[in-house]
Amino acid sequence: MPINSNHRILIFTIKNKHPIALEEIKAILESLRAQVKFDRIERGLVLLKTDLKTALILSQRASLIKYVGLLLGSTCDEAIEKLVKLIKEAANESLPFSFSILTSDFSKIDEMASKIRRVFRNSYVNLDNPLIPIEIMKLEENSFILIPLRSSRLDITRYQPQYRPYAPSATMDAEISRLIVNLTRCNYADIFLDPFCGSGSILLEASRIGCYTLGLDINPRLVYGAQFNFQSLLHDDANVVIGDASRMPFQDDSIDAIGTDPPYGRSALVIGKNLKDLYRAFLQESYRVLRRRKHICFCAPLEMRDYLNSLIREIGFEKRTQFAMKVHKGLTRLITVLFVP
Ligand SMILES: C[S@@+](CC[C@H](N)C(=O)[O-])C[C@H]1O[C@@H](n2cnc3c(N)ncnc32)[C@H](O)[C@@H]1O
Repeated sequence: MPINSNHRILIFTIKNKHPIALEEIKAILESLRAQVKFDRIERGLVLLKTDLKTALILSQRASLIKYVGLLLGSTCDEAIEKLVKLIKEAANESLPFSFSILTSDFSKIDEMASKIRRVFRNSYVNLDNPLIPIEIMKLEENSFILIPLRSSRLDITRYQPQYRPYAPSATMDAEISRLIVNLTRCNYADIFLDPFCGSGSILLEASRIGCYTLGLDINPRLVYGAQFNFQSLLHDDANVVIGDASRMPFQDDSIDAIGTDPPYGRSALVIGKNLKDLYRAFLQESYRVLRRRKHICFCAPLEMRDYLNSLIREIGFEKRTQFAMKVHKGLTRLITVLFVP
């Protein structure tokens, strides 16, 4: 299958988080500088055209994608035409071609599967070890015939706090941590900083996509805890030190991405400052250490929105996006993405 040519890629996002999932998809594509054309966007579904390599990276990096597949068609005829093309391409490269079709038990879908099998008279059908697995999926009135690409969701859930050796109460879950990492538009080999790293949730996710990670936390116990998590989950040392996010020990213009979850002034510890002063000092420092055109994604309690928005302008950041995400009844998190112009 040609890697560089454009394919139609169908993405099912987590339905009730669709607008945020879309932000995440766009941020990852931006970090890859990928050429993409969006064909259809609706709740729970995104259809875009891009090359296979981009689609694979997208499926493995995103936290809010449930399923990614290369679309063969929405009707049997479209899918059959595409399969014939793939068979010819495989033959030109002397590759053996075979496929299997997985269906659920909706009768209309089963009909589609048997029609496709009939057309190929089972000659390319191999249920045990197919070169290409094909799935037929249904969303409301639409059917989609797809070649599935591996999605990272299962992989992300394996790193949830319950599977970590050290997970104090303010620990962030792996899905949101990965979302924050992706919204920073960071890339493989970038220098990624979390200046309020706590037990290291965000740093773990940034490391898992190949960033070089640095962490600060004012509480020594959490610094040791982050180190413990890195060693047991990634079998690697964490670059985390005891430090103050309002006086970062880094040179100007030295960091490629910042993703962080500062204290909210509730259970998580705030040392030496009131909350507004702490956010001001941390954002000023972030502006100083971030390289130009690079992004920061950070959380804050929703009540701080007006204060933060005037602070952002005062410091000189440009805003990319800002949205609220409910944590529980008493707390809504404001997630803000900014860049240094
Ligand atoms: C909400 S928690 C971060 C949780 C973290 N994302 C995790 O999953 O474990 C905020 C952290 O900020 C740290 N902190 C508070 N004031 C700080 C400061 N001035 N500089 C650096 N860290 C600070 C706290 O010790 C706490 O670990």
